[in-house]
Parts: sequence; structure tokens; C-alpha cells
Amino acid sequence: MSTLLYVEASPRKQRSHSIKVAEEFLAAYQKAHPGDRIDRLDLWKEPLPRFDGDMLNAKYAIMHGENPSVAERAAWAEVERLFQRFNAADKYLFSMPMWNFGMPYMLKHYIDVITQPGLAWSFDPASGSYSGLVKGKAAVVYSSGGIYEAGSGAEGYDLLRPPFEGWLGFIGITDVTRITVAGTLYGPEATAKATADATARAHEVATTF
Ligand SMILES: Cc1cc2nc3c(=O)[nH]c(=O)nc-3n(C[C@H](O)[C@H](O)[C@H](O)COP(=O)(O)O)c2cc1C
Repeated sequence: MSTLLYVEASPRKQRSHSIKVAEEFLAAYQKAHPGDRIDRLDLWKEPLPRFDGDMLNAKYAIMHGENPSVAERAAWAEVERLFQRFNAADKYLFSMPMWNFGMPYMLKHYIDVITQPGLAWSFDPASGSYSGLVKGKAAVVYSSGGIYEAGSGAEGYDLLRPPFEGWLGFIGITDVTRITVAGTLYGPEATAKATADATARAHEVATTF
């Protein structure tokens, strides 16, 4: 039995295009993999800790091989709890809207909390190289008002997909499948077509994911 972690980053719920397509993915996935477990993480419901004070100091203590204080260790336990839930998955589905060309701040907050030395990545000072410590593959549903695909002339504005997939690669997830609902600003007809195309792709990807 595999576990699929679904991370949801749009707060628009019933009105969200990315969630709608992700739900289609999940339904097709569950049908094709009835024994698998789906863990749902709604970033707008999960209370994420502020990443400052003892928690931040614990990160530096760990990176520099120092001994974190009792308070720092207690704060770090919360980071470990959130990371362990993430790392317990074998596969990942993310859904996210583009906000100001980048990712919604709740998703960035989550990334900042779980992307930690010794948990998500390691660094070898001898070779100067980083290694991702997370295993698994991912599917990502991106939603945007505009269209930023290669050849559109607007690809340089896309600060969502390249940084997000850069982060996935950094922590060790390099097998990434993309599902896009783009152009939701172009009116109801264009949006309906973009959603239908993305839904068909979601069904196809989920069946063999
Ligand atoms: C705060 C905010 C900022 C946005 N910024 C952009 C943007 O920079 N570029 C863009 O193409 N769309 C932008 N949009 C539009 C959304 O990306 C678009 O409506 C998308 O389909 C929303 O996905 P969702 O329905 O899953 O929430 C923005 C929307 C919001 C709420």
C-alpha cells in the first residue's frame, strides 16, 4: 500500500480551478489504486508555526553542528512532526494557483518549515554538494489567469513552476508530472476548455501514477 499526500494551496475551495482538477485526479487515483491511502493537507487549515526564534536558531545550531538548547529542541520537534507527515508519503499531488507570478504565501511558509538540514536535505562540505533526502514522485496542478508556457512570450514571468520544481528537485523529487489550467482570465469559454483539458490529463496521469 502506498500513501499519496495531497497538498492544497488555494483558499478558493468550491470556486478553485486547481482544486477542481486535483479532485478529479484523486477520484481517478483512488479508483485505480483502491488500497492506497490519501492524506489530505489543506494549507489554509493546517496551523503552521512561525519560523523564527527558537525554531530558526535550532536550524542554525543543527547546520553548524552545535547543540540546540532545550527550548530550541522543543521548537524543532514541531518542524520534525510536520516534515515526518510530508516524508511519510510515497507520492505527492500538489495543487496551486499563481499569485503575483509566484506561489501563495501559505505554500512558501510550508516549504520554509519543512525544508530542513538532516531532514529534507544534506550538505557535504568536502565536495560542496547538496543531496535531497526525500524519495517519491509528484504531480502538480498549476492554475493561472494568464498563460506562461514556453513560446508564449510570457514564460519569463513564471515565478511559480520553475522555483517550485527547483525546490522539488532540491529535496530529491525529480519525477514530476505537470497539469496546467492556464488562462482563467480569458473568459468562461476559455476557462471551461482549459479545465476540461486539464481534467482529461489528470485522469490519464492518475490512472498510472
Ligand atoms: C492574490 C492573487 C494574485 C494573482 N496573481 C496572478 C498573476 O500574477 N498572474 C496570473 O496569471 N494570475 C494571477 N492570479 C489569478 C489566479 O492565478 C487564477 O485566478 C487562478 O486560476 C486561481 O486558481 P484557483 O482557482 O485554483 O485559486 C492571481 C489571483 C490572486 C487571488
